[in-house]
Amino acid sequence: MNVTVIGAGYVGMVQAVGLASLGHRVRLGEANPDRVAMIQSGDSPIFEEGLSALLRQVLEDGTLSVHSNNLDALSEADVIFVALPTPSAPDGTADLSAIGGLLAEIAAHLPDGVVLVFKSTVPVGTVAKTQRELGDRVHVASNPEFLREGSAVSDFLHPDRIVIGVADTDAGEKLRKLYDAIEAPLVMTDPASAELAKYAANAYLATRVTFGNAIANLCEAVGADVKDVLDGIGHDHRIGRHFMRPGPGFGGSCFPKDTQALVKAAEQAGYDFTLLKSVITENEVQRSRVLDKVRTAAGGELAGVPVAVWGAAYKGGTDDLRSSPALWLIQRMDAEGAAVTVFDPAATVDGITMAGSPLEAASGAAVLLVATEWDMFSTVDMTDVAAVMDGQWVIDARNMLDPAEVRAAGLRYRGIGR
Ligand code: UDX
Repeated sequence: MNVTVIGAGYVGMVQAVGLASLGHRVRLGEANPDRVAMIQSGDSPIFEEGLSALLRQVLEDGTLSVHSNNLDALSEADVIFVALPTPSAPDGTADLSAIGGLLAEIAAHLPDGVVLVFKSTVPVGTVAKTQRELGDRVHVASNPEFLREGSAVSDFLHPDRIVIGVADTDAGEKLRKLYDAIEAPLVMTDPASAELAKYAANAYLATRVTFGNAIANLCEAVGADVKDVLDGIGHDHRIGRHFMRPGPGFGGSCFPKDTQALVKAAEQAGYDFTLLKSVITENEVQRSRVLDKVRTAAGGELAGVPVAVWGAAYKGGTDDLRSSPALWLIQRMDAEGAAVTVFDPAATVDGITMAGSPLEAASGAAVLLVATEWDMFSTVDMTDVAAVMDGQWVIDARNMLDPAEVRAAGLRYRGIGR
C-alpha cells in the first residue's frame, strides 16, 4: 500500500519505518530540512533502540523515502498518517495548531478516497470535526499509538492491540489490511471511542503508577516495605505486579499532557473527573517528597552541598527530558544552591555539570540521588561508590539498589516506601 506519514518525531518515525519494514511504500514528510537530511543518511533523529538499524534497512530496500515538502510526500497516497505534536496549551487542553496548519496546507491536495488517520493523540471529536471540514471525498480515522519510548520499535511490531476508529467500513478494511502482517487483537470501532481509548489507557496507567506511589508513601508512614506489599497484592491476577513501581512520579511526553487534557475534555463535556485530578496533584507532590529526602540527608539545607544525581531522563532507555521528574529535581537542587553533578547514559542537561560515569558523578558527593531507572545503576559496585563519596547518604528514588549492599558498603540508604 502507498502510505504517507507526516511528522518525523517519535511517533511518525516509528510508524514510517515500521510500516516500510512491513513492505509498504512509505513517504515521510518532515518540515525540518536538517532532520530530513539526517534521516536520508540513515541516522534516526531520535534515540530509540533498534530504530536506526531498521531505518537503514528500509532505506536500502527503497520502501521509505523522506520529503521536506508535505505535498511531495502526499502523492499517490492510499493512507495518510498525521503524526504531528499535540502539546498542552496553557489551559491544559491539547494544542492542535500544528495539525490545523497541516490540514490547511494539504486539504486541497488530498487524493480522492484517501484515508486520513490521526496517529497523534487528539481530543475526542477531532476526527468527526475534521471529517465535516474535509467533506466525504476523504475518510478520516483514528488509529492511536500506544508506543513506549525505549521499546517503541518492538511495541510497533508486537503491539498488545491495534485500535482503529472509522465511520466508513471500506476505509476500516483498508487500515486493517495495512497491519495484516502484525499479529494482534484488533479493536475496530467508531472514531470517538478510538480517540478516547488512547486517553483512557494513559489515564489508567498514570493512575496505577500514582497508586503504587501512594502505597509506598503509606508504607513509610506505617513502617512497611512497599516491595513486599506490592508482591502481596501482585499475585492477585486481577491486580498483577506490573506498572506500579514506586518512584518520583510519572513524566514523559504523554502521561502529564494526556491526563491534563482528559481532565479538561471531561470538564468541557460536563463530567468532573475528580479521580484523575487527584492523580495529577499527587504526582506533582511525589517529586517534592524526593527533594525533601535529599534535603534532609544534606542536613536540612542544600546550599553548597555536593549532590550526585544518577539519571536525568524521565525514565531509563531514553534521552527524553520532557516532564522528567529527575530533571525537575536537578533544577530545583541547583536553584537551592547545591553543587549538582549528573550522570545519564543518554541525556544531557544544559547548564549542569555532567559526569562521564556513575562513579565520576559520585566523586566527592555528600548525597547520591538515583533519579532514573537505568539498568546499569543497579550493577555499580557500591563499595567503589563509598570510596569516592565524601558523605554517606544514598537516596534511591527508583528502588533500584539493594539496601543491604548499600549499607554493607558503609553508606546510608533511603528508598521509596521501604
Ligand atoms: C507511555 C505509555 O506507556 C504509552 O503506551 C503511550 O503511547 C505513551 O506514554 P512512555 O511515556 O514511553 O509511554 O513511558 P512509560 O514506560 O509508560 O512510563 C511513563 C512514566 O511512568 C515514566 O516517567 C516512568 O518512569 C513512570 N513509571 C512507569 C513509574 O514511575 N512506575 C512504573 O511502574 C511505570
